This record gives sequence, structure tokens and C-alpha cells, in this order.
Amino acid sequence: MKGERREETLPGKLRARLDFYEELGLTPFYRRRDARPAAPPMEMKSEAPRAAEEPPPTAASLVAAPPAPTLSLFGEAPGRLEGDTLERIRADIGDCQRCKLAPHRKNIVFGAGNPRAQLVFVGEAPGADEDVQGLPFVGRAGQLLTHWVEFLGLKRDDVYICNVIKCRPPGNRSPERDEIETCSQFLFRQLDALRPRLICCLGSVALQTLLGKAVAITRMRGQFYDYRGTKLFATFHPAYLLRNPPADRQVKEDLRKIRQFLG
Ligand code: URA
Repeated sequence: MKGERREETLPGKLRARLDFYEELGLTPFYRRRDARPAAPPMEMKSEAPRAAEEPPPTAASLVAAPPAPTLSLFGEAPGRLEGDTLERIRADIGDCQRCKLAPHRKNIVFGAGNPRAQLVFVGEAPGADEDVQGLPFVGRAGQLLTHWVEFLGLKRDDVYICNVIKCRPPGNRSPERDEIETCSQFLFRQLDALRPRLICCLGSVALQTLLGKAVAITRMRGQFYDYRGTKLFATFHPAYLLRNPPADRQVKEDLRKIRQFLG
């Protein structure tokens, strides 16, 4: 449009977003869940592998990543990738070099637990112990999280645990915006593949990433929200509790609400 930069128009924004995904090595088609016939397919360069049993896509069912809903901290989240699996997501991450955390990490911490879990915990980023073992929440904060899981009447093997960021930030600093932007796409796909009954965010980074806006965990914890049709809940991060033991009372309140929700 005259006088307008490409990124300021809706098609321009979509194209820029798709270009960005291509730069990251992500070039999937997205199948719209309700497969409404209207939208014409965008021009696509390549196609992600699909499960053998899936029927071939029709033009009407293949659409570009939809512009809504707003899910990431940075605006648009990709549409669901039908038939996506944890194995495929892990394979797509590969030996990831997409962000500046890669040279510092020992292991990518993808996530662990029951792939059919009703409850998924989402933390922030791996710490030193997780980096060494390649598993989420295995250090001191992880031991506390295990107590919380047991308080719910569950075992760690019953739930699934992952993080927004899959690589340890050096010195356990907070993840930076570009790192969240790059890595959260894999979290979105994990949650789509897992389809739990409840997602519990541990701390503000997870909550902000899934709600797509800057919010304060102190105000938002203990309440239920919606994440793409799945119930979303938030409580403090276990590491916060290690520094502020009196917050245990609020976390117990929160855990009772989760227990009641899960029945
Ligand atoms: N803190 C997190 O947010 N995630 C982990 O895996 C460990 C500590």
C-alpha cells in the first residue's frame, strides 16, 4: 500500500511472520481445525512431514498461520499443526542453534513426564542441574515441585513438566525476549500435542508467554484462564518459594484449587 511499510499491512505482517519462521527452519503447513472453505491457501515453499495415516491436504484445509489469537509475547502464535507429536517436535528442535543460548548449554531440556498427562507444569528455563541431566526441574526447585505434585495426590510420572526455554541461560539469568520469541514456538506445539486438562504456569515468564501479555504473577496467581480452549492456571515458581517460604500458604491455596479442578 502506498506510503505503508509491508509489515504494517495484514498480508505484509503474515508474510513477514512466515519469512521469520522460515529463517528459523520452521516451514509447516497449518491445517485449520474447522476447515472452513473460504480462505485461499498462501503460497508455501515446503511441507513438514506428516503422519502416514493422514489424508492428503486439500486446498481448503491448508491455510497459513492465522493472525489470531494473540498468544505469544510478541503478537501472533502459529496455528495448530494437526497430528503433531512430542517426538516430531523434539526432532524439529534438533541440535538447536537458533538463539544465543546454544553455545552455553550442555543439554537441551525438552520436557519429561506422561505424554497423556491431565496436568502440565510450565516453568521458565533450565538451571544448572537440569542442564547437566537434560531433564526439567531436577534441582532444589524441582524437589519442591515434586512435593507439590504429591500434595495433589499425584506422582511425577503422572504429570508432564516442561519450560518456556529449553536451554539454560548463562548464570541462570532471566530469559531474554528474543530467546522467548524463538523457543516458545516449541512450547506452544508441545501443549497442542499434549492437550492436557489443565496447564499450570510456574511463575510470570510462563504465564506471560501463554497469555501473551505482561502480567504480574502476584495478581494473577490462583485463578483460571483460557489458553486456546484449555484451562490455564498460575502459581508462584518453586524457586520463588525457596527464597520466600511464607508464600507457601498461597501456593497451598493454589494447589487445593488444582486438586478440586482435577477432581
Ligand atoms: N526452574 C525452571 O523454571 N525450570 C527448571 O527446569 C528448573 C528450574
